[in-house]
Amino acid sequence: MAFSKALLFAVLASLCFYSSVHAARELNDDLSMMAKHEGWMAQYGRVYKDAAEKTHRFEVFKTNVRFIESFNTGDRKFWLGINQFADLTNDEFRATKTNKGFIPNKVKSPTGFFRYENISLDTLPTTVDWRTRGAVTPIKDQGMCGSCWAFSAVAATEGIVMLSTGKLVSLSEQELIDCDIHGEDDGCYGGDMQDAFEFIIKNGGLTMDSNYPYMATNGTCKAGYNSSATLKSYEEVPANNEGDLMKAVANQPVSVAVDGGDMTFQLYSGGILTGSCGTDMNHGIAAIGYGTDSNGTKYWLFKNSWGTTWGENGYLRMEKDISDKRGMCGIAMNASYPIA
Ligand SMILES: *[C@@H]1O[C@H](CO)[C@@H](O)[C@H](O)[C@H]1NC(C)=O
Ligand SMILES: *[C@@H]1O[C@H](CO)[C@@H](O)[C@H](O)[C@H]1NC(C)=O
Ligand SMILES: *[C@@H]1O[C@H](CO)[C@@H](O)[C@H](O)[C@H]1NC(C)=O
Ligand SMILES: *[C@@H]1O[C@H](CO)[C@@H](O)[C@H](O)[C@H]1NC(C)=O
Ligand SMILES: *[C@@H]1O[C@H](CO)[C@@H](O)[C@H](O)[C@H]1NC(C)=O
Repeated sequence: MAFSKALLFAVLASLCFYSSVHAARELNDDLSMMAKHEGWMAQYGRVYKDAAEKTHRFEVFKTNVRFIESFNTGDRKFWLGINQFADLTNDEFRATKTNKGFIPNKVKSPTGFFRYENISLDTLPTTVDWRTRGAVTPIKDQGMCGSCWAFSAVAATEGIVMLSTGKLVSLSEQELIDCDIHGEDDGCYGGDMQDAFEFIIKNGGLTMDSNYPYMATNGTCKAGYNSSATLKSYEEVPANNEGDLMKAVANQPVSVAVDGGDMTFQLYSGGILTGSCGTDMNHGIAAIGYGTDSNGTKYWLFKNSWGTTWGENGYLRMEKDISDKRGMCGIAMNASYPIA
C-alpha cells in the first residue's frame, strides 16, 4: 500500500513536471514567435489598428511560420519564406488587390498571327535570361493596387523596346492606370495586358516612370507627356502550348497570366515552383527566360511586381513542360507580346 502510494505520487509529480516543462517550452516558443513577429512588423512597416487586431494577426503569422518551417524541411524543389504576405491567411491573400488584378480580355488579338510559329524548337537556345541581355528593368512593387496587368504589359514593352532600339527605359505603369480607362482596363481594380498594349499603340506610346511615377492608386490622367517608347502591334501566343510559349520567350519578354492564389505562391521564396496549382487566372507577370537547373529540372523564369522581398529577389521560377498543357498555374493559357 505504501509502495503504491509512493508510486502514484511519483507518477503524478513527473506528469506535473512534464506539463510544466511543456508549458514553459510553449511559452518560450510563443515569446520567440512574438519577437519574430515584432521584427517582421518593423521590417515591413506593418502597423495594426489595435491590440485585438495584433493578436489576431499574430495567430495567423504563427500558423504561417509553422507551415513554412514544416514545408521547408522536406526534400523540395522550392522553398517558402516569411515575406510581406506572412500575416495573411490564404483566403485573405486571394482577396487582396495585389493578387486580383488580371481580368481576362473579352476581345481577341486583332490578327491571330503568331510570328514565331515556324521556328523549330530544337534551334532554340537551351537557356534564356533577358536580364543578362539588358532587357529587364529592376523589380517594381505594385503595392495594394490590382495593377499587375500594367506591370506585366510594361515589362514586355520595356523588353521589346530595348531589343529594337538598344535602349532600356523604365516605363510608367501609372500612366496606364490613370489614362487607359476607356476600354476594359480599370486601374487598381484590374485589367488585361492585351488591352494595355492596345492603349499604348493608340496613345502614341508611353512615357518614362521618372516622368510619371507610380502611386499605387487610381489617379487622374495627366496629359502632355512625351512618349519614351512606342508599339506597333501585339500578338497572342497560341493557348495551352508550352512549346509555342518557349518560341516567343526565346525572342522577347512575354506577358503571361497566372493563378497566383495558392499558399505556395503567396509564400514562395526560391527554387522551382512545382506541384499542383489552380488555373483561376488572377495575376499578370512577365516571362523573361527559361532554362534547366543543376538537377535537370526545366523551368520558366518570370519577373513579378511584388518587390524584391518576394521570391528570388522578386523573380520566380516555375516548372516547365509539365503534362498539363495549360502549364504550371495556367502560364500557357493567356500569353501575349507586343511588337515595337
Ligand atoms: C485566356 O484563356 C482562356 C482559356 O483558354 C480563354 O477563354 C480566354 O479567352 C483567354 N483570354 C485572353 C485574354 O487571352
Ligand atoms: C508558317 O508556315 C506556313 C506553311 O509554310 C505558312 O503558311 C505560314 O504563313 C508560316 N507562318 C509564319 C508566321 O510565317
Ligand atoms: C479607379 O479607376 C477606375 C477606372 O476609371 C474606376 O472604374 C474605379 O471606380 C476607380 N476606383 C477608385 C477607387 O477610384
Ligand atoms: C516634349 O518634347 C519636346 C521636344 O523635344 C520638348 O520641347 C518638350 O518640352 C517635351 N515635353 C515634355 C512634357 O517633356
Ligand atoms: C538538387 O537536389 C538535391 C537533392 O534533392 C537538393 O538538395 C538540391 O537543393 C537540389 N538543387 C537545386 C538547385 O534544386
